[in-house]
This record gives sequence, C-alpha cells and structure tokens, in this order.
Amino acid sequence: MGIRRILTFPEPSLRGTARPVENITGETAKTVEDMALTMYAAPGIGLAAPQIGLDQRIIVLDVAPDDEEQGKEKGKHLIHVVNPIIVEADGEITFEEGCLSVVDFRAEVDRAARVLVRGWDVDQREIEIEADGLLAVALQHEIDHLEGTLFIDRLSKLKREMYVKRVKKALREGRPIAQRRAASETN
Ligand code: NI
Repeated sequence: MGIRRILTFPEPSLRGTARPVENITGETAKTVEDMALTMYAAPGIGLAAPQIGLDQRIIVLDVAPDDEEQGKEKGKHLIHVVNPIIVEADGEITFEEGCLSVVDFRAEVDRAARVLVRGWDVDQREIEIEADGLLAVALQHEIDHLEGTLFIDRLSKLKREMYVKRVKKALREGRPIAQRRAASETN
C-alpha cells in the first residue's frame, strides 16, 4: 500500500488500546514497511500502528533518520517492535516532544531516562532494546500510543487545554489546524 494517511487529534481511534499481534506473518512485515515509509515521508522519528488506523501493537522508530553515514539509504537505524513492553524503566529525563498526530504543537514531557523494552521482530525473533536519551523517550512515546495515550495527556491540564482549545476553535471555524512545521524530532 505504501505511505498511509496519519490520523490526527481529536480522531477517536487514536484513543483505543491496541490489540496484541497474535501471529507474526508476511502481512505484519508489510505493515512495518508501510509504517516506516509513512514515518520517513512525514518526516518523523517514530510511528505507532494506531496512528495509521491499525488496531495492532506495532511501533517503528528511527531517531537518526538523517545520519550522514546513512547516505541515501534510508532505514539504516530503523527499529521496529511488535508487541513491545517496557520491562525496566529508571531515572528521569525532560524532553521537548512533538507528535505526527498532534499537529503544530510541542511541549516538554517528563519520562524515564532509561528503558528496557522487549518484543518481537517480523522474523518472529524475540528482541530486547536497551535505550537512553532520545531513543528512550521515543520508545515510551510510541508505546503510549498503543494505550491510546498522547503526549499532551502527560502535560499539566493548563497546557493541554491551551492546545485542545486551539484545535476545537479551528474545527468549529471549519479551517484546518495550522500546518505542522517541519520538525525532525516528531513522533
Ligand atoms: Ni506520536
């Protein structure tokens, strides 16, 4: 199918709990491929299946999409995880986040500084990813999407309401929410 449309807040299907993938098949590999294409095209550093309307626990990430060593070959740092779970989390980090599903808004979010994530790859191998810094932040952000949680839910009510009001006003006036500015660190 290729590049998919990314759903944006307040689309209700971003709010559900995604279902675990029970059988990893060629279809799963195709989904991962489409998610990666969609993420790179956006451009973003992460994408979760519910963001393209799929009720499945799959995430893709590439926190260095423009790495010079990568040359013209996209995807050198591509990570995908099927049915990811956070098995360890410690420390604290505050990072300015954005989201392909939360148009034209960024804010600082507190997360664990280091995580250990377990899951599966499309070759049915069990995988483990230990991460800190931006990758740890992005993994937590994407796994949140599988629970229907957006980064705006992790802000103070005041900050969140500022954004929600802006979106509601735009919808009420029948105009599109301001176009997302190009930002490389958006997931
Ligand atoms: Ni996101």
